Amino acid sequence: MSGGPGVLGLVAAGAGGVEKRFRLELAEPAARRGWRLAITLTPTAYRWLDAAGELPQLRALTDLPVRAEPRLPSEPKPHPVPDCFLFAPATMNSVVKLALGLPENQALAAVAEAMGMPRVPVVVHPQCGEPLSRHPAWPGHLATLAGAGVRLAGEEHAADWTGLLDLVDDAVRQIRPNG
Ligand SMILES: Cc1cc2nc3c(=O)[nH]c(=O)nc-3n(C[C@H](O)[C@H](O)[C@H](O)COP(=O)(O)O)c2cc1C
Repeated sequence: MSGGPGVLGLVAAGAGGVEKRFRLELAEPAARRGWRLAITLTPTAYRWLDAAGELPQLRALTDLPVRAEPRLPSEPKPHPVPDCFLFAPATMNSVVKLALGLPENQALAAVAEAMGMPRVPVVVHPQCGEPLSRHPAWPGHLATLAGAGVRLAGEEHAADWTGLLDLVDDAVRQIRPNG
């Protein structure tokens, strides 16, 4: 949106709570801050938000399509390249695939591509409860993402996701200090 902070690639996976909290704690607050939202959901998150009746309200927040499916080769890209990506919540399934470079759906493809773009910061909020988070592979995958420049949000954001938008602001300021 002209004059606003820019385009925010808002991505979510099928983690507990996403079906209500994604709109209330992320999409609506981000829109209020002036972000133009490019929303992409994993197929699981899309199904959950659809079942919860959330999709019309999400669509009302942005002029861009709410995506889950990849485009056809004959179609133009539905989203512009965002100024920043926020992947929240990110499941263990999605975090592991992102770290391994397995972009098997549109949400993962969008974030994985951004990891290769030095001027597009990526903030990820992993949500992986016990006992899954004790899996021996988990710390290594998080370290891979951190080593690639992904900003991993800490546990302090678990109770209220809106604070993740401050991490987005910080990330954008670091990359574009003059706006
Ligand atoms: C009610 C429910 C809550 C879930 N919560 C989580 C979660 O918080 N974190 C997680 O890693 N997986 C969670 N899962 C499992 C994921 O939904 C599952 O791994 C799914 O394949 C994730 O797909 P996605 O990463 O493509 O969205 C949950 C599953 C259900 C049914």
